[in-house]
Amino acid sequence: MAFVDPLTLPNPPRHAPFAKCNCVRVVGSFEELVSTPFAGKVNALCWSRTLEGDFGEIVSALDVKTGISTITEERLDSLPLTAAGRIARETILKDLERLRALDLAPALDCVNGYEHDLNAGPVPTHVQSFHVDSATVPADTYLCTYAGRPSEGLPNEQAMRRVDIPETRAELLDLYGGPDDEDFREYLNENFFDLHYAPLPTARPFQFGVGNLWRIACEYAGSPVAPCIHRAPDTVPGESARLLLIS
Ligand SMILES: [Fe+2]
Repeated sequence: MAFVDPLTLPNPPRHAPFAKCNCVRVVGSFEELVSTPFAGKVNALCWSRTLEGDFGEIVSALDVKTGISTITEERLDSLPLTAAGRIARETILKDLERLRALDLAPALDCVNGYEHDLNAGPVPTHVQSFHVDSATVPADTYLCTYAGRPSEGLPNEQAMRRVDIPETRAELLDLYGGPDDEDFREYLNENFFDLHYAPLPTARPFQFGVGNLWRIACEYAGSPVAPCIHRAPDTVPGESARLLLIS
């Protein structure tokens, strides 16, 4: 079967609505988001929200350089904002506080393009390539896009690990210079190659939407579900920076 590189999917890809994906369950509150267990095919929970306030104003006021800037609360607090901007800021601060109360360490990032090489090596390992997050202990990823293009997800049955694509594996074995054994699998793991996925030709990613707070499953030993495959969206020249919370 032929595989399509995620970076060559139609741009923008033909997205499926997330509420129709069998790997997504929509919840109605933060408490439900935190307490609903992943089970069966569900490895992504979405607290669907329509947020008030002007998040774009915060992005403009931050005026970040190219790349990823992590925004401290002090910086957020110091921004001169209109009433609509202040409402947006309150929402962000409340989300940060909620997640900290769970002993998490959320970060607020403003992303103004990336500096990685999109096509380096046989397996891209940057955040714009479909991947799963991994952890050594049970953990989930929380994320919310407040402004800009949202993150994207991919149902597991519409993707294949890149290291399992015969041509890619052969290239990796060449690079490694040894047999396809336990040490090679460790090499794949140490270089994050085994966390990245290629969408099948018929794949339809879904967008996480703007304002929604998501909890998605990571890969860890003993997880009851497959990890959620996701990526940062394509960068479009001239589009304004993204503002997102990640934990
Ligand atoms: Fe990720």
